[in-house]
Amino acid sequence: MDLILDGVCKSYPQSRGSLAILDDINFSIHTGQFVALLGSSGSGKSTVMRLVAGLEFPSNGRITFDGLPVGGPGSDRGMVFQKYSLYPWLTAAQNVAFGMELQGLPRLEVRERTAYFLEVVGLRDAGGRLPRELSGGMQQRIAIARALAAQPKLLLLDEPFGALDLQIRESMQEFLYQLWQQTGLSVLLITHDIDEALLLAQQIHVLAPRPGRIVRSLMVDFDHGDMMALRLSTPFLERRQELANGLRQLDGTLT
Ligand SMILES: Nc1ncnc2c1ncn2[C@@H]1O[C@H](COP(=O)(O)OP(=O)(O)OP(=O)(O)O)[C@@H](O)[C@H]1O
Ligand SMILES: [Mg+2]
Repeated sequence: MDLILDGVCKSYPQSRGSLAILDDINFSIHTGQFVALLGSSGSGKSTVMRLVAGLEFPSNGRITFDGLPVGGPGSDRGMVFQKYSLYPWLTAAQNVAFGMELQGLPRLEVRERTAYFLEVVGLRDAGGRLPRELSGGMQQRIAIARALAAQPKLLLLDEPFGALDLQIRESMQEFLYQLWQQTGLSVLLITHDIDEALLLAQQIHVLAPRPGRIVRSLMVDFDHGDMMALRLSTPFLERRQELANGLRQLDGTLT
């Protein structure tokens, strides 16, 4: 499985002419690869995500997944958004089950898979609770369980931990890393957080704004095993500083 973006451009019509949002975006994700797209607010990250999800289409260039053009949303791509997107009137388990019921899976299978994915995200006992009874981190784990339950080949994460406070964000980053290791899923993580990209991804593409374009791509080869130790290690801090300096020159708004 490969996701390939080939010369992808996106522009929106304006009263006079059009506004270029993305310009000549090229990258690919191989099976099992963890790729991060790093950029400041307004650089076009969510636009890339919507194009890959098939919610919108490129103005130019093409996107293929498994050798086929992306023609719309599909259960092969699971999505998690920054803002909690659970249905507030459904319990955690019903949220996880929702997509599988839409797919028309037999009730027993839905029940078994719901229990399994609640277990995967460490919330086996929270299935009966409503979203408002769960913390932000728990809600995002349910959102990830819901995305996983459709058994996607690619997980699309658009700033999934952006709304969480620092401590929970750090534990969610560890959780995501372990999940990726266990499942072997391909992941596209969208983030404005340099640490998050460096801690989790094998490859990072840096998106500069107006119009959104990739100005740098780098491979990351840290030993991610002990994330706490990695956060404090000299190679990590040096890489982080160097990346931050580069980004500051592009755009002063990155944190
Ligand atoms: N439907 C639209 N019509 C016109 N302009 C749009 C549309 N959707 C997005 N844009 C513009 O495209 C640019 C990129 O938006 P996008 O949401 O992709 O950025 P982002 O990197 O995800 O930002 P953030 O970090 O704030 O989520 C913004 O300037 C936005 O105003
Ligand atoms: Mg966005």
